[in-house]
Amino acid sequence: PKKIRDYNVIGVNQSDSESESDEELQESETKVVDQAEVKEPEDPVAEIKDPVEISKDPVKANEVPKQLPVEKKPATYIHVERDQEIQIARLKLPIIAEEQVIMETISENTVIILAGSTGSGKTTQVPQFLYEAGYAENGKIIGVTEPRRVAAISMSKRVGREMNLSTDIVSYLIRFEGNCTPETKIKFMTDGVLLKEVESDFLLLKYSVIILDEAHERSAYTDILIGLLSRIIQLRNKKGNPLKLIIMSATLRVEDFTKNLKLFKEPPPVINVESRQFPVTVHFNKVTAEDYAREALIKTIKIHTKLPEGGILVFLTGQQEVKYLVNKLRKLFPFYGNKNAKKEEIKTESEQQLNYSDDEELDQILNIRKAIKHQKKNKKNLISQMTLPKVNLDDFQMPGDDTEADFNEDQDMLDENFEEQDEIDEKLNEMMTGTGNSQPLWVLPLYSLLPSHKQARVFEPPPEGTRLCVVSTNVAETSLTIPDVKYVVDSGRQKTKFYDKVTGVNAFVVTFTSKAAADQRAGRAGRVAPGHCYRLYSSAVYSNQFVQFSPPEIQEKPIDGLVLQMKAMGIEKVINFPFPSPPDRVQLEVAEKRLKILGALDNQEVSKITKLGSSIASFPVNPRYGKMLALSHQQNLLEYTICIVAALSVQEVLQEVPLSGENGEKDTKWRTKRRGWAGNGNSLYLGDPMILLKAIGAAEYAHSQNKLQNFCDENGLRMKGVQEIRKLRVQLTNEVNLNVPNLSLAVNPKMEPPTDQQAKLLRQILMSGLGDQVARKIPDDEIKLKEDKHKFKHAYQIPDVEEPVFMHSCSILKKKQPEWVIYQEIFETRNGDSTKMFIRGITAIEPEWLLKFAPALCNFTKTLEEPEPRYDSDDDKIYCHVKATFGRSGWELPIA
Ligand code: CDP
Ligand code: MG
Repeated sequence: PKKIRDYNVIGVNQSDSESESDEELQESETKVVDQAEVKEPEDPVAEIKDPVEISKDPVKANEVPKQLPVEKKPATYIHVERDQEIQIARLKLPIIAEEQVIMETISENTVIILAGSTGSGKTTQVPQFLYEAGYAENGKIIGVTEPRRVAAISMSKRVGREMNLSTDIVSYLIRFEGNCTPETKIKFMTDGVLLKEVESDFLLLKYSVIILDEAHERSAYTDILIGLLSRIIQLRNKKGNPLKLIIMSATLRVEDFTKNLKLFKEPPPVINVESRQFPVTVHFNKVTAEDYAREALIKTIKIHTKLPEGGILVFLTGQQEVKYLVNKLRKLFPFYGNKNAKKEEIKTESEQQLNYSDDEELDQILNIRKAIKHQKKNKKNLISQMTLPKVNLDDFQMPGDDTEADFNEDQDMLDENFEEQDEIDEKLNEMMTGTGNSQPLWVLPLYSLLPSHKQARVFEPPPEGTRLCVVSTNVAETSLTIPDVKYVVDSGRQKTKFYDKVTGVNAFVVTFTSKAAADQRAGRAGRVAPGHCYRLYSSAVYSNQFVQFSPPEIQEKPIDGLVLQMKAMGIEKVINFPFPSPPDRVQLEVAEKRLKILGALDNQEVSKITKLGSSIASFPVNPRYGKMLALSHQQNLLEYTICIVAALSVQEVLQEVPLSGENGEKDTKWRTKRRGWAGNGNSLYLGDPMILLKAIGAAEYAHSQNKLQNFCDENGLRMKGVQEIRKLRVQLTNEVNLNVPNLSLAVNPKMEPPTDQQAKLLRQILMSGLGDQVARKIPDDEIKLKEDKHKFKHAYQIPDVEEPVFMHSCSILKKKQPEWVIYQEIFETRNGDSTKMFIRGITAIEPEWLLKFAPALCNFTKTLEEPEPRYDSDDDKIYCHVKATFGRSGWELPIA
């Protein structure tokens, strides 16, 4: 077969005028990389020998075909009426030329692998090919899975629009949300959703074809689906009702799917869609910037002020950073647009110092004005145009609307990082005094939790006279392709969740990406014309410290839920499952052990799911929460527990304390508000989950009075979070009603507050799921004995871990510091060389509860005092002196 490149970064120096005029940027070591240099020592393509490769002559870079290919379709095809404009755009996509090859291969094979670089049209076009070829006839559905919710929603909308079909026909389903109907013919869903469907319909009979998209990401669910589907297709074939499987990948690194003989007996054919890729010149920094967010800011300013037109795409690691950079850039290159009434209103209000409802927003506006004042000093010619900065209300995120990763970050650490803002401001202003482009920059954020209508804006052309600049997390790496990008600024970092297989500690660490990811990012610059990628790290770091590829997720994350789900499907020897790359033995063992502690699996050698386990598995949540739901059913507390579980699953309901540094006062105000929820300290609602319950109860009451917005503003709740919880509660309630016989809970979100007795029971129920996540305050007299006392101030201890842990500042128990607590999550933050562990989602418990709710973790030993049982005739009882300790910690538990 022909030698085919599988990624797009490869750049050839075009030595065009722009890179020469690019004096400023030359201060970085401009390394012009050609194909031979960038390519990794072991060429991943060279390894793939046996799969059949079907490929057309690659279209040469730079060479746009003069004539667009004309689509020829057999008469039997299902007709789709597309708008002309859409049709023109489609015909430019490389995949269109391959339709026939793809459709022939899929009709002759059960499984095919389709590799094609990002933006070649795989996700948007292949479902359409299948639809036109009749795969959605006779009530069958074309299923497409995505590892990211963003992609499932946005792609279903895009495909529906391209085909002129309503969301009833081209629909999506993500956990707890979707628009599928009985008429749905193309269904986009997250991979987790399809896995859940396999549980109830093992043969997936309603589907004629399943597309597993973004398989190169190696998400755990996608990996398991590949294993399951390798068996399902055999069974469907036997039944004479074949199911087709298309595995789509943005890279040609597919040997885990083709070479693993446990999976497919015959290696499936691999089709590679070559795409037009313009050369990208890769510039490495001389040194690797530690403060890459700031470095990205400076680089973006340089590109914007010095280099010819073309969109800029910046890769950072998380939502906080994205927001930081977006705000900075908007301040520096504001876009005025048309004045409109709303903006006027804000201006007057803020000027009159009225009680504006959203401090954060007002603050943003004031900051912009401050920045303009700065600029005025430096850039007189700019001011003449400056009447009023355009501030789009929708552009400002509510504080605390964070990604999973950001959400768990230690606030204090963030504060430190962004403290020297003034200094940066000054430097930037200096820089801006030089001559250069002062065109407004159309700056858009992109991250997975951004509402979908805002995400959609990155696909639209920027307003006339502005340059597009998208600041993104790695969402824009392969799932979403942003049009017209010419410059990529790559921080070279990503946020990775590390999971300690033994202790269960989660750590969010900013790490270097893989070489494959860096090359994907660079490739984003060469889709429309020759482009440039500015890497904020040195070529030495790239060569020596970047791994080739990121490992599959299944080998990295806790798999309790997956193991239980597999056991529920009757897969008992999980270890023998045909994983594309199996998780390691330790990880499987630890997961089984935790499930045994929960009582979800029995204690046999090859453990089977228990009755409790089946009921836990029927809840679409982590087994810990499943157990809480199962137990509360017995206590008639299901409604409350559903609310707690929903609240724990939604990120940041209480508003996050905003970053300090710009406004210290506000900081304290938010902290006070958060603490306000804790009550006067004597409350029985002892803990974060219970406070959430109280807050949600009150918010729903306010909602019924049409006062939700006000209520949230006044009490520091995030309204979107409250609404999301309501949705989740309704859905969880429906599921619970479906799963539990003779139960019909009302789906009314309003609820009475629990009584004190119920509140106590609820804390015990929380403990039944979190019994192995206990922390104990280190007593003062123990601390006194330590050498480095200061390190142990307010510290807690958890079993099996030597290092102390601390309550995260978001906990409402932070002040109270009860002696015994359980926690929802533990994570580690790293600052330079030092690390610190935090716990979050904390509930105060009584140690004697552990005996009853986590007996599997308690040890009982006879004491010397009274080793034999003694009969007491006074109260007719037998007494026996035993000592109870918790886990391997040796912590003594009070015992009656
Ligand atoms: O899946 P793959 O990366 O191969 O490509 P795709 O996601 O199907 O994207 C094909 C083209 O559609 C790209 O040029 C995208 O920019 C464009 N697209 C769009 O304009 N609007 C969307 N909502 C989604 C994709
Ligand atoms: Mg795609």
